[in-house]
Amino acid sequence: MTGNHFHKFYLIGNPVEHSLSPVMHQLFLSYYKINGDYNALLVQPDEIENVIYKLGAEGAGGINVTVPYKETVMHFMDELSEEAQLIGCVNTIKFENGSLKGFNTDLMGFQRSLPVSVEHQKIVMLGAGGVARAILIAFARGNCSSVSIFNRTISRAESLANEIKTRYPETKITVHPLDETHLTVELANASILINTTSVGMKSVEENRMLVPSPLLHQNLFVYDVIYNPQEPPLIKQAKALGLKYVNGLDMLIYQGLESLKIWLDQDLPFEDSLIHKSRDVLTTKLQNGH
Ligand code: ATR
Repeated sequence: MTGNHFHKFYLIGNPVEHSLSPVMHQLFLSYYKINGDYNALLVQPDEIENVIYKLGAEGAGGINVTVPYKETVMHFMDELSEEAQLIGCVNTIKFENGSLKGFNTDLMGFQRSLPVSVEHQKIVMLGAGGVARAILIAFARGNCSSVSIFNRTISRAESLANEIKTRYPETKITVHPLDETHLTVELANASILINTTSVGMKSVEENRMLVPSPLLHQNLFVYDVIYNPQEPPLIKQAKALGLKYVNGLDMLIYQGLESLKIWLDQDLPFEDSLIHKSRDVLTTKLQNGH
C-alpha cells in the first residue's frame, strides 16, 4: 500500500512488556500491506527526551506513548493537536520535517468504538481520571444532554467537570459521590452507563463493580473501558441482564488505527473484517494470559 519504504513504529513506556500494541499494530501493518514493523521500547525517565529525538533522527515513522510518559512528552513537542491540548496528554507522536507533533487518539478511538449515539442522552460516568477526560470531551462534542460524574475523590471530579464546562458550556455536567443513593437517582433516567475507573481490572479489584446490580435497568447501554479481563464484573452483569454492552477492546483498536492514520497521513478504511480480526487476535492473546 505504501511502496517499498520500510516504516518503523515504536511504543515507548515503562512497563511495556504486557502491551497489546505491538501485536495489534503488526496485524494492522500486514492487513494494509504496509512494509514496516512496530516495536515496544522500555524507556527510563531520564532517557525519554533523547530516545524520541534519536528515533526521529533514525527516520522512525511514528511513536506511541504509554504510561507514565503521556504527559511528560508534551514538553518536547513543537506542536500539539487540538485533542492533545484538550486532553492534556499525548499518545501519538509524528515526525514532520524535523519537528515533533503530539496527538491524542483516545478521543477519536472512543468515538469510533461507540455503537450508540450520545446525542440528547443522559449519561452516568464512573471515574474522573485521564481516560474519563477524553471520554467526557467526546460526550460534550456529541451533544449529550447531561453527564453525571461519580468519583471516589470528589475534588478530582469537580475540577474535571469545571474545566470541561468552561470549554463546552452547553453540556450539563454534575458531580456526585460514589454512593448508592446518588447512583439510584442518577441512573434511574440515564440511558448510558460508562465505567472509566480501574475497578474490575485484572489484578486491581477484579471482582468488584461500583454500581449495585439492581440499579442496572433495561434501558441502559453499558460501556466499560476495561478489556482485561474482557468481561469485568460490570460487563458480566450487563450481559446476564440482556443489556447492550461494549468493553474496552474496540477503543484500544480504534485509537491504534487512528495513530496509524496520522503517521501515514492516509485515510485508511476501517473495514469490519479488520476490526473482527483484531478482536480475535487480541482476545486470544488475552486468553493466553497476556
Ligand atoms: P486512567 O488514566 O486510566 O483514567 P487514573 O487517571 O489513575 O487512570 O484514574 C483512575 C480512575 O479510577 C479514577 O477515577 C480513580 O478514582 P480517584 O480519582 O478517586 O483516584 C478511579 N479508581 C481507581 N481505583 C479505585 C477504587 N478502588 N475505587 C473507586 N475508584 C477508583
